[in-house]
Amino acid sequence: MQAVILAGGFGTRLAPLTYTKAKPMLPLLNKPMISYLIEALPEGVEVIVAANYKNEQLQKYFDENGINAIIVKEPKPLGTGGAVKNVEKYINGTFLVLNSDIISSLNFRKFIQYHMKKKAFVTISLWPVKNVEEYGVVDLQKDGRIKKFVEKPPRHEAPSNLINAGAYCMELESLDYIKPNSFVSMEMEVFPKIIEDGKPFYGYTFDGYWIDVGRHSSYIEATKILLKNKNKKYVAGDSKIEGKVKESSIGDRCIIGKDSMIKSSIIYNDCVIGENAVIENCIIADGCKIGNEVKLRNVVVGEGEEIKDGEEIENEKIWTKPLPKGYPEKQIGNPVRR
Ligand code: GDD
Ligand code: MG
Repeated sequence: MQAVILAGGFGTRLAPLTYTKAKPMLPLLNKPMISYLIEALPEGVEVIVAANYKNEQLQKYFDENGINAIIVKEPKPLGTGGAVKNVEKYINGTFLVLNSDIISSLNFRKFIQYHMKKKAFVTISLWPVKNVEEYGVVDLQKDGRIKKFVEKPPRHEAPSNLINAGAYCMELESLDYIKPNSFVSMEMEVFPKIIEDGKPFYGYTFDGYWIDVGRHSSYIEATKILLKNKNKKYVAGDSKIEGKVKESSIGDRCIIGKDSMIKSSIIYNDCVIGENAVIENCIIADGCKIGNEVKLRNVVVGEGEEIKDGEEIENEKIWTKPLPKGYPEKQIGNPVRR
């Protein structure tokens, strides 16, 4: 069986972090988030990564860590459906499709078994949320069949609070619903059409946790969930901590100065944080220098930025360099309708 990991988005909602890193390479407890997904797959499942933006970072990581995966680069972003069609030649039967920005306790073995038992054409994983308008929402019947799928509906038009959790089990023939070499949205075009045609389209709910890591707040939330089993903080062995670290993750070769407090934050590698600084609800990318007495709340600092002594900043994204070439000004694909 193959698993197609969709890893080609720009991750615009996670800018400026994604100006320098592919979204699936953003670290959770110092490890790229895509590796959690790969580790959760049952043995023997072949991994195909449909990538585009900064795919060479993924290739480098897989090579260095002995991860067996085929990376297929799209000539241009083909959307969530077009990207799967683009790797059709590697698929030889029932297959999985996985969004790469999800951390969850979904048991893939049980998920596949459910799909087989129901003799489904497509089965999608489901999770209940409050903010349905940011997701694909389903109308689920008692027997598990999905009557309706609507991507990012206005709240009052949402058929339920159950959303597409970003993992699908699909039959090979479902690829016939996707036009080759075209930009096709799985959620807006393919799923609604398959349901309309009366094919067995099922939903699978599960217990545990599910987090979409696609936004700054949920990225920090995902880190906190993973930290629960790790004494509520993660500090890479070669970092030097003189201040306090609470519910946070600190990468390699960082220095946290005396009397500083890092709370509910993610700090990547090679960062220096001065003395008496307060960093709360922040994400700080590689190689940043944060001065003494700095106070940051809800701030995302892009790679290699510097914050001078004594600065106090709230609710901001810090990026002082030009945008990387080809990076879209705004979200493409399936944006939220407002
Ligand atoms: N290869 C490739 N090419 N991958 C893509 C492309 C593309 O053109 N566009 C997006 N992706 C990847 C993203 O990297 C991500 O892993 C996945 O496809 C989904 O795209 P997002 O941009 O993250 O979509 P979303 O978060 O707005 O919504 C999706 O996920 C929700 C769950 O988190 C949808 O699938 C929703 O229905 C779902 O509820
Ligand atoms: Mg997403």
